[in-house]
Amino acid sequence: MKNKLKHNIILIGYMGSGKTSVGEKLAERLTYQFRDTDQMIEKKAGDTINRLFAVQGEEYFRNLETDLLKELMPSLEHTVLSTGGGIPLREQNRKILIDLGYVVFLKANKQTTLRRLKGDSTRPLLQGDDLEKKVERMLEIRTPIYEKTAHKIISTDGRSIFEIVELIMESYLKRIY
Ligand code: S3P
Repeated sequence: MKNKLKHNIILIGYMGSGKTSVGEKLAERLTYQFRDTDQMIEKKAGDTINRLFAVQGEEYFRNLETDLLKELMPSLEHTVLSTGGGIPLREQNRKILIDLGYVVFLKANKQTTLRRLKGDSTRPLLQGDDLEKKVERMLEIRTPIYEKTAHKIISTDGRSIFEIVELIMESYLKRIY
């Protein structure tokens, strides 16, 4: 691992892969802080992601993500950071993520993802018709990007939050001690 001294776990993966729910539990187990980039952006901007996309556009939101990562760079320690699903798409962001800590990709197949995202209204990229096609197309493009960014890939299909947390703990503690 490039940055042995930074005690952080960075969770990446597609929407609905469980980054937030796993991250909260993982932080509890490690007695680390929990932070979530979407929540931080909403708080800073004083608006929801849906509205930021609708009013300012996706590019604006993506710039907020990059700005936030840059801000976190010098100070993040003993933290589990859950990241918005689009963050690893920018090369600049990928470099920062890898520098921030131990990057874990929570991988979920199409069926699991669709089950978790059905009826969701909080994610602007998934609104409108044919959720299945959208998810399929995006997973195809993004999966290799998530894989090349991560230090560790964890398959979440058919696993409980508890099991996923244990798997991450095991590999992370091996890495830092
Ligand atoms: C996005 C994922 C969302 C949020 C925004 C865009 C994406 O976060 O950042 O809707 O491009 O995958 P989650 O992955 O937490 O749902």
